[in-house]
Amino acid sequence: MSRLFTPMRVGAFNLTHRVVLAPLTRMRSEMPGNVPGLAMVTYYEKRATQGGFLIGEATFVSRQGNGGFGSPGIENDEQAAGWREVVRAVHAKGATMALQLWHAGRVSHSSLQPDEGVPVAPSAIDAELRVLLEGKPGLATPARALATEEIAGVVGQYRAAAQRAKEAGFDGIELHAANGYLIDQFLQDSSNKRTDRYGGSIENRARFLFEVIDAVTKVWPSNRVGVRVGPSNTFNEMHDSDPEALFSYVAAGLRDLKIAYLHVIEPRVRGNAVINDDPPVAAANLKPIFGGPVIAAGGFDGKGAEAIVSEGRVDMVAFGRHFIANPDLPRRLKEDLSLNSYHRDTFYYGGDTGYLDYPTSDELETTAVE
Ligand code: FNR
Repeated sequence: MSRLFTPMRVGAFNLTHRVVLAPLTRMRSEMPGNVPGLAMVTYYEKRATQGGFLIGEATFVSRQGNGGFGSPGIENDEQAAGWREVVRAVHAKGATMALQLWHAGRVSHSSLQPDEGVPVAPSAIDAELRVLLEGKPGLATPARALATEEIAGVVGQYRAAAQRAKEAGFDGIELHAANGYLIDQFLQDSSNKRTDRYGGSIENRARFLFEVIDAVTKVWPSNRVGVRVGPSNTFNEMHDSDPEALFSYVAAGLRDLKIAYLHVIEPRVRGNAVINDDPPVAAANLKPIFGGPVIAAGGFDGKGAEAIVSEGRVDMVAFGRHFIANPDLPRRLKEDLSLNSYHRDTFYYGGDTGYLDYPTSDELETTAVE
């Protein structure tokens, strides 16, 4: 029997299978306002299954943390109300849903910032970073370094967003600490050149992450909080001189806090593209350190997912691109049905094409007999 389709308890969540919807920026919120609307309700509802686990896309905790035109936010009541409808639809299908809280840090642009301001980062460093603006990619506006006294305010933005996510009815939250966004910018030493208590040693660079966790666990119990990391990630010009030491330290700290799960992106994936065919190792390496439930992501198909879960090396697998193209992915994997191909040109921003029109296998069959 397939181990991917056996139940498991993850923190406070009771799941009936281990095929997870990865957080996926689709830039389909209603503009202006970055409010989740009906299209988003339908999109998530289609991917919800009884006992399944969905992670909502990167959602900015404040406008200062917005890294893409059309991305949803969770900084005001209107956005929270939009999310409430998404969660209601997902719950009606019997699934559990966490929201990914996101601050893009330096991967942003003045046009996305309050008062057309300058994005913030741990350090002001020259980097060519791509940001998704209205319908087209642009280059990030060079960021300024956060003053030490400002950091508590940014941590507070996460706490307020965590509170709103709770009011919206989510089952939990996931902190986006991967892919070169603000928390990752603090963690890795290519983007953190600070000389205060937030820079230098691994302990100092991880301080921001742990302060954010401390803040959000004032709102949520730790067994409803997950963290997503991307060890050895090179997306968004990231690099660390000793990723093994850094991410081992992070995993051990998260173990002590007894968070719900650790979500690990394999370095064979760079952002949204597979860059090599390395076997997945990052998640499995961190599992013995973290101890609790681990989700692996990045470059998995059904076979690869079944192998890593049945060997007990990780507990669950999150799917990105295949879940975009296959709203009924869990069923297709369970029944070994063929998969729709995904179309990269409709990943980000736009209308319902490439968002709401990928057919389920039932819909394909209906079309075939017509
Ligand atoms: C992503 N990814 C991503 N990751 C994340 O943590 N938050 C996000 O909002 C997004 N957004 C996003 C959008 C799109 C269109 C893609 C394709 C990817 C990364 C994603 O969660 C996953 O790690 C990668 O897609 C690798 O997994 P797959 O696609 O190989 O299963």
